[in-house]
Amino acid sequence: MKIGIDKLGFYAPHLYVDMNDLAKERGIDPGKFTIGLGQDEMAVPPVTQDPVSLAANAADQILDEEDKEKIDLVIFGTESGVDHSKSAAVYIHQLLGLNPRARSVELKQACYGATAGIQMAKGHIALHPDKKVLVLASDIARYGLNTPGESTQGAGAVAILVSASPRLLELESESTYYTEDIMDFWRPVYSTTAYVDGKYSNEQYIAFFQKVWKDYQEQTGRNLEDFAAIAFHLPYTKMGWKALRTVIEDASEEVQERLKNNYQISTKYNRNVGNIYTGSLYLSLISLLENQDELKEGDTIGLYSYGSGAVGEFFSGKLQPGYKKHLQTAEHQAMFANRECISVAAYEKVFEESLPTDGSEKQLNIDEDPAKICLAGVKDHIRSYAAK
Ligand code: COA
Repeated sequence: MKIGIDKLGFYAPHLYVDMNDLAKERGIDPGKFTIGLGQDEMAVPPVTQDPVSLAANAADQILDEEDKEKIDLVIFGTESGVDHSKSAAVYIHQLLGLNPRARSVELKQACYGATAGIQMAKGHIALHPDKKVLVLASDIARYGLNTPGESTQGAGAVAILVSASPRLLELESESTYYTEDIMDFWRPVYSTTAYVDGKYSNEQYIAFFQKVWKDYQEQTGRNLEDFAAIAFHLPYTKMGWKALRTVIEDASEEVQERLKNNYQISTKYNRNVGNIYTGSLYLSLISLLENQDELKEGDTIGLYSYGSGAVGEFFSGKLQPGYKKHLQTAEHQAMFANRECISVAAYEKVFEESLPTDGSEKQLNIDEDPAKICLAGVKDHIRSYAAK
């Protein structure tokens, strides 16, 4: 039985800041951001979007009534969740009208959470082939104004429907993974922004890639030539290339060209959104599938997932016949075209807006947010959401 990704939805907030503007305001050469990091634009979440609403907007795009009835497991991968106890997945049922006869849970391991969710979804579908699993990857990446990590912030969500007989990508059973307790990036429970040892994090991302890629080669006998493309977790779009270039010379010129070209295509959306943590790898996959017309059914796509702290995994999937017809290309392009570029001063103002934490009430103005599903306010420590 084939099990894999049946549908992919993506949502980013409607506001963004141009990285050239941010660089100028911070007294930095814009080339550092646009070439050195490979980022052109950074999504800015208004206070009316949080990881729950972002994920609900991403999933709303792709789910039909049959999906809503058949989903009996919702897995929410996030490292910027809104509650230490209640899972973000539970909110989704009400917002999307899902069948309540389902399991719902939140998973956390930095940017790796959704990958764990997908692998668990695969096991669930193997036992219950008539069911579907909704995996959500949703985050707001916040390092703080004027910090070294500021240029690698972003916000967005990817919704992944996992089922039998998938229409996009069959997930193969070969997969290699690695865990080691390191402190490259973390966010203590009392902090609203992350702590990061940036250089160390870059090194570990590459070291974990080399380990799992070597294991994958040994386990499967495959080499780079067996892949049409490899998609990477992208905290910024240069990062995946830094890992790929350490192994690419093992391949022929032709294979190197193909992987390099497809890598560039796989970074297109991420360049204009920034880091979305858990969803970054899957945004890169969407970018590849929606913007590369030369991929064909049966092609193998490699995926490298990395979550600081840290866990890395290399796995793969096969493109399904007619997959192009089942992508949300037009919807995603319209979403990008309708976004609004804001000044750095406006971004700083939006960044500083937050919900009260003392139990006082705040109603938010959701009229200025074009998203269908918004965070509408908070009262008695309870968030309320509105679907327009
Ligand atoms: N034109 C072109 N490139 C330039 C440049 C310019 N004017 N100025 C600098 N650069 C390049 C640097 O050479 C460097 O390239 P390299 O990494 O290929 O050597 C790159 O821009 C970044 O410069 P650097 O000085 O290393 O930036 P930084 O000290 O501000 O740190 C991060 C960058 C990514 C480490 C930092 O933003 C961070 O900590 N981010 C969060 C953590 C993260 O994303 N981790 C990734 C693993 S999950």
